[in-house]
Amino acid sequence: MVRALVTGITGFAGSHLAEYLLSRKDVEVYGTVRWRSRTENIEGIRDRIRLVECDLMDATAVDQAVQKVRPDLIFHLAAQSFVPTSWLAPAETLMNNILGELNLFEAVRRAGIDPLIQIACSSEEYGLVHEDEVPINEDNPLRPQSPYAVSKIAQDFLGYQYFRSYGLRVVRTRTFNHTGPRRGEVFVTSSFAKQIAEIEHGLAEPVLKVGNLEARRDFTDVRDVVRAYWLALERGEPGEVYVIASGRDHRISEVAEMLLAMSTVPIRIEHDPGRMRPSDVPVLLGDSTKFRRRTGWEPLIPFEKTLADLLEYWRGRVACRAACTESRQEYGSATRVTSITGATNVTDANSASASASVITSTASSASAGTSAGTSTTTSVGTSAGTSVSISTNTSTNGSDSNGVSGSSVDSGEGRSSGGGEGGSDDRRGRGHGDGDGDGDAARSGSGGNRR
Ligand code: GDD
Repeated sequence: MVRALVTGITGFAGSHLAEYLLSRKDVEVYGTVRWRSRTENIEGIRDRIRLVECDLMDATAVDQAVQKVRPDLIFHLAAQSFVPTSWLAPAETLMNNILGELNLFEAVRRAGIDPLIQIACSSEEYGLVHEDEVPINEDNPLRPQSPYAVSKIAQDFLGYQYFRSYGLRVVRTRTFNHTGPRRGEVFVTSSFAKQIAEIEHGLAEPVLKVGNLEARRDFTDVRDVVRAYWLALERGEPGEVYVIASGRDHRISEVAEMLLAMSTVPIRIEHDPGRMRPSDVPVLLGDSTKFRRRTGWEPLIPFEKTLADLLEYWRGRVACRAACTESRQEYGSATRVTSITGATNVTDANSASASASVITSTASSASAGTSAGTSTTTSVGTSAGTSVSISTNTSTNGSDSNGVSGSSVDSGEGRSSGGGEGGSDDRRGRGHGDGDGDGDAARSGSGGNRR
């Protein structure tokens, strides 16, 4: 068995990668978590992976984690990955992303091991791309447009430098946008899909709030991306950098239209100035020829299916949340979601149902850990094979000890600042947790693009 350590395992890409590694049967999966990590993305596989408590900012903790696991493979996804947060918290973004990787590399050196290490770099590094440069390959100039992009360039070059200086077997992947179920709600595809699901559920006015619709992005399904990460270590060449991209770009207006076409209700688009960025990367379209030739990788999942699965995921979550709210009203008490699991078993892109249906619900029992509480599990299944289950504790004292108010569920969404996408890591908002593979990013109620 091969030992793989995934930093940011609780995040969006990290949780999908863990599932992929487990499906291979020849990999023991370890992941770093922080004490405050949200674990809803990995609830479905929790008993098949081993979690090691470790904050990548703490060199001692990273040393201990690496000594303990002694991995053959490292997938380094943990990062602050939401671009707008990097303007709000540039120092934290730079520290998290650069120092975290530095601590990891130094821990590997000190442990005297020689693992293959994949690091999740980003197409954002290219920044300003001229029309005559697309599609972009590995040789395009880097003209960063955000502190986040700078942090990713530093990660990228640190990987190169550690390969040159110390022979660390680092493979750098510059991944373009990716999405799919469990994508954090602040990122554009999830922001739109979640709003649509809420509107369909009667929870919001029929208005889709949007930011810059002119930007063009190259989207790959996260499940294709995590397979690429495996191939990067299996067949990639240490010291090299590879673009991972679909080779097709979509204007964000087109993404909005595609999702709206799947909606069951009419919705109008409204521009929200709060979602604009100080500077936005106008076009990112990738040329992954180098990676494809080297590894044989091809993306398999069409974008239409990715969006359909994502919308189903959000329909499930919104339905669950509505069910929780009803349950809370029934008990006249606070509801705290203790775990949310999004398991995807997607079959047919065209099978998105009109709305999610609750197929199993509310088994009440005495709850562990609350004095007069009730524990409820609600599962929502959808026709696209996405299921979401939420476990809740209802307590009669109106709020719980973690400070979750009675009017909200602690689903990890809708925070006004901070990071950790997709229910990844950081309850406050920022930090590692998931990765840039992108994992871990900022949460923000509006999509978070504030000046
Ligand atoms: N988030 C968001 N919310 N973006 C919006 C919105 C909105 O309501 N409306 C328009 N956009 C535009 C953004 O301005 C941007 O041009 C584009 O949609 C994509 O935004 P994001 O989904 O936030 O992703 P990103 O391109 O900034 O960064 C993602 O991809 C990188 C790889 O290129 C992240 O996953 C990064 O971590 C990753 O490195």
